[in-house]
Amino acid sequence: MKMASIPLLFSLLLASLLISEPMVMLTVSADQDSTSFIRKSCSRTLYVDLCYSSLSRYAGQVGNDPVMLARFAMNVTIGSLKPLSMYIDSVLHHTASSEVAALKDCSELISDATDLVRKSEKEVTGLEGMVGSKVKRRIGNAQTWLSAAITDEGTCVDGFGDASGGTVEQKVRQKVTRAKQLTSNSLAFVNSLANS
Ligand SMILES: *[C@@H]1O[C@H](CO)[C@@H](O)[C@H](O)[C@H]1NC(C)=O
Repeated sequence: MKMASIPLLFSLLLASLLISEPMVMLTVSADQDSTSFIRKSCSRTLYVDLCYSSLSRYAGQVGNDPVMLARFAMNVTIGSLKPLSMYIDSVLHHTASSEVAALKDCSELISDATDLVRKSEKEVTGLEGMVGSKVKRRIGNAQTWLSAAITDEGTCVDGFGDASGGTVEQKVRQKVTRAKQLTSNSLAFVNSLANS
């Protein structure tokens, strides 16, 4: 009895290895496929590491679709801009008067930039199913609006002057700079839609 069950157990173990191993490998290679599309696309942006770290989690949903990649990049950008305008508004209430003017400007600029990126995400939605001049016009609009958003973000950062500002200024400057980099990456993806 005991002697017979050992080879039996062994063959069961072997069988389960043979069955489960290829399945594991399939999932892994599918994952690598979609992250490799994001990795390759991110390598053509200005802020490669930020690009990859902010987008790799959407690999499964993006697949190999460049329009979806651009849309996710824009939503990630919105996700960093939106809390930023709330943050600026909240610090405005207890900030040294020397920083108030620049912060107020920033608050407007950032909410403007948020709207522009949001409009751009809508503009490229469904692009896959469209043809001809409509596609060009939509991509052109998104390019214009994302560029305008980058200008807004830059104007906000420049409003603080050099690095000698208070801690609130420095914090805002850091956060806006990151949002600006995410916007720049989004624009790079939209630009590459124009070339495809
Ligand atoms: C981006 O966000 C908008 C608004 O929440 C949503 O409608 C859209 O589906 C999102 N896009 C992607 C690609 O998830």
